[in-house]
Amino acid sequence: MPEQILVKLGGSVITDKRGDCTVDRKALDSIATVLGASNFAGAVVHGAGSCGHPEANRYGIARGVEPSTRIGIPVTHESVVSLNREVVASLRREGLAAVGIHPLSTCTTEDGRIASFEEEPLRLLLGLGCVPVLHGDVVMDRVRGACIVSGDQLVAHLAPRLGFARVGLVTDVPGVIGPDGEVVPRLSRANAGDLVIGASGTTDVTGGMGGKVAELLGLADAGVRSHVLAADRITDFLAGRPCGGTEVVPEGA
Ligand code: IPE
Repeated sequence: MPEQILVKLGGSVITDKRGDCTVDRKALDSIATVLGASNFAGAVVHGAGSCGHPEANRYGIARGVEPSTRIGIPVTHESVVSLNREVVASLRREGLAAVGIHPLSTCTTEDGRIASFEEEPLRLLLGLGCVPVLHGDVVMDRVRGACIVSGDQLVAHLAPRLGFARVGLVTDVPGVIGPDGEVVPRLSRANAGDLVIGASGTTDVTGGMGGKVAELLGLADAGVRSHVLAADRITDFLAGRPCGGTEVVPEGA
């Protein structure tokens, strides 16, 4: 089996975060072309951007859902599923056997953290050379009724369990930016404390770059390295070449 890679596409990379569910088709298609040309083997996770964050925010879903706000569950889910369909279609046009997997149907959380995830279909799809395409989603939560699970939390949960060789998080910034305004090339728990990481400039119910770093440090604790990189360096990342950005590594690595 070829080396399996896990790629997360930030919502701000593939949507215009200023609009209401505005897919950036040009950006999406150019990433799909690069993935197709690399004969990509692995899974894709994407964020929501303007397809899900505004709805999640409107109904306060990250804090939980009660009967009075339950309509927020289908409204938010449908918005991010509409983006997922576009991502899948774009990858399919490039010859990849992409198939949408929706966390609302496969995942349960406990107070905001993934408590169970049905992994077997993913393992079997990957074994056949299909490309599962997951996304940040509204999911049912044992404590809060429902909540938002970010694409980054999905990456942190699935990467150690499915044994991806490499993990890349494609964002609209060049990497994690340090206090001097420069990209931090290597991040572990040892130097993460020095960073004050800004929140996203647009509606983001899952914590922007700070939330992402927290998830990736958790992933590093499980022994898995990951890379935060800019969209224009994805070809280098897929080829295993230096790709700039920030590598998040286990402490002492
Ligand atoms: C958020 O997922 C999911 C919803 C709000 C439905 P992410 O947190 O992974 O999305 P981005 O990458 O920040 O847009």
